[in-house]
Amino acid sequence: MLKKIVLIVGFVVLANLAGAMGYYFLRTPDMAPPSSIRVEMTEARVARGKYLFENVCDCDGCHSERDFTRFAGPVVHDGRGKGFIFPPEFGLPGTVTAPNITPDIETGIGYWTDGEKIRAIREGIDREGRALFPFMPYPYYRQMSDEDVQSLVAFMNTLRPVKSRWPKTILNFPVNFLIKGEPQPAKNVPSTDRGNKLRYGGYLVKMAGCAICHSPMKNGELIESKRFAGGQVLRLPFASVVSANITPDPDTGIGKWTEQQFLDKFYQYRDYVEKGPPRVGPENFTLMPWLGLSQLPPEDLSAIYAFLKSQPAVYNSVEKRPEMTKTE
Ligand code: HEC
Ligand code: HEC
Repeated sequence: MLKKIVLIVGFVVLANLAGAMGYYFLRTPDMAPPSSIRVEMTEARVARGKYLFENVCDCDGCHSERDFTRFAGPVVHDGRGKGFIFPPEFGLPGTVTAPNITPDIETGIGYWTDGEKIRAIREGIDREGRALFPFMPYPYYRQMSDEDVQSLVAFMNTLRPVKSRWPKTILNFPVNFLIKGEPQPAKNVPSTDRGNKLRYGGYLVKMAGCAICHSPMKNGELIESKRFAGGQVLRLPFASVVSANITPDPDTGIGKWTEQQFLDKFYQYRDYVEKGPPRVGPENFTLMPWLGLSQLPPEDLSAIYAFLKSQPAVYNSVEKRPEMTKTE
């Protein structure tokens, strides 16, 4: 009798599993057709787009060629937007390529319409209607304002076309099916009022993906109770670094930092941008986008500071370079 029940339960579980898999296999991601917009290429737009691409959102961080022999991996100028393939040490579930997003016709996205680019950035759907792996932070960019995403596209349209072909992303099972649930149409997103410091700070933090690196993850999901508490290990083949606690906890976070100290910490790296950053070793290796973020004007950094200070304090003591301490 017991055996029979176990068998039946087992069968029901299997049938449900098969049903769920069938659902993910067959389903197409939620998507809207791309808009027919042609982004107006004004000077102000291109400038704002450049600021978002290189500084706030750090599109450079994933999509550009970088010199990892130097502190914080500065962008190689002629390789901006040419794409990058993540090494296995990064621990992603498959072979993940951040594609060439320069206007090159053959190997980049030169033949995409502006509407298709906007849809990929905010909604995670590529030109062929495939769901993008949400390591590309489109779940955050979904809240990017219409004005900002158009500025980004205006800037991307001015990038120097670079010929560089990469293999397509191949994700492991079952991630390849599960991500189909991630894309969502963005509709219209109004601009955030810059006069409201907390809200604008929150918007910048979202666009910059601070939480993505500064929160520990479990099964690819951010641990909500530890948002901004640091402790995520970021790896490249030659070194690794652990993200810092940036909650207002006084002992393990930035609770004791004054606004001026916070700004100074970022501005300390301006020198590196002007003169070129020093050589890097495992002892000073970082993936924190200090170079790009050091260019933020004081009002934007101050809004980010205000927002972070408004978040819950989480006690979490982080050692940024545990491998170094062990060998000392
Ligand atoms: C954390 C890394 C990361 C960041 C930051 C990032 N991307 Fe991506 N992006 C990716 C990856 C990985 C893919 C490909 C995903 C896939 O193939 O499923 C992608 C795909 C894209 C695509 C689709 C291209 C194609 O050929 O399918 C566009 C367009 C794009 N990103 C633009 C941007 C822009 C603009 C920004 C900044 C606002 C940005 N990305 C920031 C990693 C990133
Ligand atoms: C690509 C991953 C990544 C992103 C995105 C990122 N950080 Fe970091 N951050 C790190 C890592 C790793 C460290 C620790 C190593 C270091 O200090 O360079 C760090 C360190 C810091 C520190 C220094 C803390 C201390 O105790 O010294 C501050 C402040 C900080 N980040 C703020 C931010 C803010 C604000 C954002 C968003 C605007 C952000 N970070 C985005 C990875 C990231």
